[in-house]
Amino acid sequence: MFNIILFGPPGSGKGTQSENLIASYGLKHLSTGDLLRSEIANQTPLGLEAKRFMDQGQLVPDEVVIGMISSALDNNPAAKGFLFDGFPRTEAQSIALDKLLALKETEINLVLALEVSEEELVKRLLNRGLTSGRSDDTNETVIRARINEYEQKTTVVANYYAGFDKVVKIKGEGTVEEIFSSLRSEIDKRLS
Ligand code: AP5
Ligand code: MG
Repeated sequence: MFNIILFGPPGSGKGTQSENLIASYGLKHLSTGDLLRSEIANQTPLGLEAKRFMDQGQLVPDEVVIGMISSALDNNPAAKGFLFDGFPRTEAQSIALDKLLALKETEINLVLALEVSEEELVKRLLNRGLTSGRSDDTNETVIRARINEYEQKTTVVANYYAGFDKVVKIKGEGTVEEIFSSLRSEIDKRLS
């Protein structure tokens, strides 16, 4: 198996690049944001609880997202590898993920960290908010709260994996194609 974390702040292009990457490498895409939005759309108890946090730009509690990822791993026994998008977001989530993968005798092979300036992030998300229907994209206060959560709670995840020498920084500004090409070259180096 080859397992990748696509890491980066809100609006850095994780979802956009995930689509290209899963098409090229046949990985199973696991986005906790998408899983949570599907729970909200289905009005499940989990979705209703998560929405309270998401609407304010705050992280959903660790045990909720770890449980979702654990089920998703169990539900995809034949996957060639996983592409994690928006997970892990805290050190506790990273430790839990490593344990879950170890139970399946696999591990994170690579963390690709997209780097984008704060002003560009806000611009992209406000622009997406015009059409996305995502409640957390519609006002700048919530967008800045998401970026603040990332800085306070999520940047430590990159340090955690850097300790295992698994992190590569990628310039996340430029065209979608340019960024995809940088991501692909880092993956191909490790697959060959
Ligand atoms: P989540 O859904 O993960 O959202 P996010 O991290 O805030 O990031 P986005 O999905 O907004 O951005 P992205 O990096 O995917 O960029 P995208 O490709 O869309 O999380 C939402 C919420 O759920 C969290 O706030 C939290 O409450 C909760 N949550 C989720 N996971 C959690 C976890 N593990 N733990 C706790 N809580 C969790 O691109 C953004 C925009 O930019 C798009 O319009 C796109 O078209 C555009 N764009 C992309 N690339 C480029 C480019 N190169 N140039 C110009 N524009 C571009
Ligand atoms: Mg996304």
